[in-house]
Amino acid sequence: MTGTPGVGKTSVASHVTSIDVVDVNSLADDCDAIVGYDAGRDTDEVDVERLVRAVKAIRGDVLLEGHLSHLLNVDLAIVLRCSPRVLRQRLAVKGWSEPKVTENIEAEAVDVILIEALNAVSVVCEIDTTDMSVEKAAAAVEEICAGESEKYPVGHVDWSQEVIDWF
Ligand SMILES: Nc1ncnc2c1ncn2[C@@H]1O[C@H](COP(=O)(O)OP(=O)(O)OP(=O)(O)O)[C@@H](O)[C@H]1O
Ligand SMILES: [Mg+2]
Repeated sequence: MTGTPGVGKTSVASHVTSIDVVDVNSLADDCDAIVGYDAGRDTDEVDVERLVRAVKAIRGDVLLEGHLSHLLNVDLAIVLRCSPRVLRQRLAVKGWSEPKVTENIEAEAVDVILIEALNAVSVVCEIDTTDMSVEKAAAAVEEICAGESEKYPVGHVDWSQEVIDWF
């Protein structure tokens, strides 16, 4: 389960009970994959290859949760989406700086994570969480994990009208 930072991955994962959840941020810590810190972007630098090896060592099916999950050689990617307008509010609640908020709502607006997931993973699903409760989003994730990926195809999310209104 991936998506732009702040979209709600950790909140949704906390309501998923049908499959074991692995927090990729903690996994990166545990396997010493955090190799630096980018002060300009206020973000950790992660050795993705090291993370891939750590994921490979996990036995059984798990739900990876984190914005790098789709880069970790996974069978299926669930991309959580949120309209940039609402994402701004979710990031504000987290107390993030204005440059970090702007970077992330721009990334969401132009589908950065979705495109990365489509390039890296053979089955990609999308859940628009904008007007959804956390519980409902978690139920959708559980449906996908139970094999109902075709209920959440990509291609229905389009923030272009919202972005045009920025100008
Ligand atoms: N439908 C929803 N799905 C997920 N989160 C929601 C939803 N509605 C509101 N939220 C809120 O949005 C915020 C999302 O924060 P959260 O830490 O879960 O995001 P994240 O994607 O894990 O971020 P990060 O990439 O920084 O770890 C929380 O405050 C959560 O309560
Ligand atoms: Mg999180």
